[in-house]
Amino acid sequence: MTTLTDHPSVLLIVGGGIAAYKSLELIRLLRGAEIQVRTVLTKAGAQFVTPLSLASLSGEKVFEDLFSLTDETEMGHIELSRQADLIVIAPATADLLAKAANGLANDLASTLLLASNKPALAAPAMNWRMWEHPATRRNHAQLRADGMRFVGPNEGAMACGETGFGRMAEPEEIFAAIRAYLAGAPEPRGPLAGKKIVITAGPTHEPIDPVRYIANRSSGKQGYAVARAARAAGADVILVSGPVTIPPPEGVPVIRVETAREMAAAVDAALPCDIFIAAAAVADWRIAGDHAEKIKKGKKGPPDLKLVENPDILAKVSQLQNGRPGLVVGFAAETEKLVEHARRKLARKGCDLIVANDVSPASGVMGGDENTMVIVTAEGVTSWPKLDKDAAAVMLVEHLVEILAQREGF
Ligand code: CTP
Repeated sequence: MTTLTDHPSVLLIVGGGIAAYKSLELIRLLRGAEIQVRTVLTKAGAQFVTPLSLASLSGEKVFEDLFSLTDETEMGHIELSRQADLIVIAPATADLLAKAANGLANDLASTLLLASNKPALAAPAMNWRMWEHPATRRNHAQLRADGMRFVGPNEGAMACGETGFGRMAEPEEIFAAIRAYLAGAPEPRGPLAGKKIVITAGPTHEPIDPVRYIANRSSGKQGYAVARAARAAGADVILVSGPVTIPPPEGVPVIRVETAREMAAAVDAALPCDIFIAAAAVADWRIAGDHAEKIKKGKKGPPDLKLVENPDILAKVSQLQNGRPGLVVGFAAETEKLVEHARRKLARKGCDLIVANDVSPASGVMGGDENTMVIVTAEGVTSWPKLDKDAAAVMLVEHLVEILAQREGF
């Protein structure tokens, strides 16, 4: 057998789907470009292609078993994953994605993915209903948030006779994605390339005096996650952030503010944009008057604090006569009647979409790491599964991309 030492190396995991036959062509393309291919064939994959076909085309031994004594003595599974420049999963079945998203390690393929310090590229292949199932959407969003890259799936006829999204990308497309990765190219221009997005995040602090303020429990995690996801989708993002302790997302300028009025001014300065996302928990009120001196305890008892309303940034941007962003997204943090309140907010503020969150203490959303988003638009209401905030952000950004695509007709 020939080995291509000094050449880029791909570890190809072949999962159990009818599209596995296309992976044979992929191996041929990779070998033609002098890329070394080691293959891992799952038990289900072996129902569709044989180890002999893979070995013949790749010119390398095929790995199948986590507990194979000969495989482990020749090359342990940790080493196998570490020697590759890139791990490619094709076909990536719903089962493989579910295992990877949840960190399972109960066979060679899933163990390699968990043990690896290398990036992974997945080419999903499954029936369209499986691809659209909330569980797979959740796993896909989580894996994207974890840094996995994807190529496909494509829309088209499937082996089962149905048509939809779930068909594995063609070998040439997967090959091109692998070549681009190995050449050090950044992820291909994302679907939001060329779009400018302004996002508000975090709480605001409204001073009572120079040492005290009114605040709320927002951590800013969800807004920052949306900024990261939008950036990863190729957008130019400006993040207007209230006081939080989260590091700035890579490639995203952060304008730091304290009060609602400062946030409103920073948003004004950042406009115009294509999409505005108001994820901040802006204080509805501030203390009237000036706050130059510290309020002292005195005979008069507690101070008589007067509240005045803050500008509503979301409503103002939604209702701009000139230069309104094409898509305006608000958040609604509610403790009761989630959908009813969100619907009213949508109409009252004039935005295009509201992400409603149950923030009652039992939900753990405020300050927590997970979120259950309910998407409310004039057309209807969709509830998404409970997700890690990063995964929820990826799903939201993908949803916005779909809305834009429908509008722009591409
Ligand atoms: N928002 C804003 N400016 C404000 C208040 C809220 O931009 N002064 C935005 C938030 O960023 C969020 C949305 O409006 O996207 C909903 O905020 P929320 O506080 O839930 O709504 P309220 O306007 O306060 O309505 P209510 O008091 O009925 O909850």
